[in-house]
Amino acid sequence: MRYRMSWLTSLTIVVLVLAAAAPAAPGTKELSGKLEMFSWWTAGGEADGLNAMYALYKKAYPKVEIVNATVAGGAGTNAKAVLSTRLTGGDPPDSFQLHAGLEVEKYEPQKFLQSLDGLYTSEGWTKVFPKDLIALLKYKDHFWGVPVNIHRSNVLWYNRKVFEDSGLKPPTTWAEFFKAGDALKAKGLVPLVIGTKEGWEAGHTFETVLASVLGPNGYKGLWAGRIPWTDPKVADALNTFKRLMTYANTDYSALTWSDAAQYLVDGKGAMHIMGDWTDGWFTSKNYSGYGWAPVPGSRGTFVALSDSFAAAKGAKDQENLMAWLKLAGSKAGQEAFNPKKGSICARTDCDAKLFNAYLQSAMKDWSANAIVPSVAHGAAAVEKWATVYKDILNTFATRGDVAAAQKALQQACADSGGCK
Ligand code: GAL
Repeated sequence: MRYRMSWLTSLTIVVLVLAAAAPAAPGTKELSGKLEMFSWWTAGGEADGLNAMYALYKKAYPKVEIVNATVAGGAGTNAKAVLSTRLTGGDPPDSFQLHAGLEVEKYEPQKFLQSLDGLYTSEGWTKVFPKDLIALLKYKDHFWGVPVNIHRSNVLWYNRKVFEDSGLKPPTTWAEFFKAGDALKAKGLVPLVIGTKEGWEAGHTFETVLASVLGPNGYKGLWAGRIPWTDPKVADALNTFKRLMTYANTDYSALTWSDAAQYLVDGKGAMHIMGDWTDGWFTSKNYSGYGWAPVPGSRGTFVALSDSFAAAKGAKDQENLMAWLKLAGSKAGQEAFNPKKGSICARTDCDAKLFNAYLQSAMKDWSANAIVPSVAHGAAAVEKWATVYKDILNTFATRGDVAAAQKALQQACADSGGCK
């Protein structure tokens, strides 16, 4: 009796066997082997977003083994160095995370990357990605990466309860910020939580201050060589940042961005200036007590960056790689990835209803604001300039020597060829 199957059980087995042996869905070639994908997404919403895309890939190509090669460290601090060594050493991952913009120069694309122009044509991507993004993605007349999202760097996150209990509103100007900071300090709270452990976070915070103090055109002018770094407004921005640091937690150099965000979750700190991967991270922690606003003085300006995936020349798993990139650029891929990652789609046709209130507000701002490129995340400047910029700001966060920092910033611009 135990071994007699009901007709229903037998039918189920037949269906399962047929399904397993069934050819891949129409238009989908059956693939096998491996796909190695390299990124620095190991934490919270970052990993969740990536896993959501992997799940879609596994569904379409169950026989492909995904090798999730990650090197932890926000903004790719550690990953970028490992990647360079792998590319130049002839052992590239198939695909890797790359910011849209001038960061690509670091990897000598004509030597080490595949041009993706053909994919852009076959997938119709030039029509579904916005024009500004297309312009940012083109380097030496070719496409080298497939953008999966848009992130915003100039967001002020705050703990709603702390603000309500203190009778405060999110500050819209720096004067309001410092006033709120004094009130919070008086209550024994840390007004601004920040972590600078990985060396890029001070540069991130400062780019948002620069965009606020110089405005979108002034900010862009600095990276385009139109406005010198000796401009008095750069000194104003440095002084604002210096004052900001007097409202920060004293253990900042021992914390990462997410450690700092944890202070906000715990109600020990009131505000945090960070990109909107923080929204994905909060979501992954089931924390919903946060509010958001543009960094003071930067309403109407969207400091933007975009994560893309590139294809290494000589990739071991070419077909699997192409299938991955197609998924990354697709509506389904982006709708699975972004609500978890805390970013909005690079595509213009995603369903807004799939996104939370913060992300819906980001979508509105992305289409209405002045867009300027982030330097801390690869868009505004070549990597060697961005690296020196971040180092200068990291030192400045502790030392606070305005004249020295301004001189060094001007020098960095000149050395990189950005200032004529
Ligand atoms: C950025 C990246 C984001 C996020 C962040 C923190 O450079 O574009 O996707 O991962 O670093 O790690």
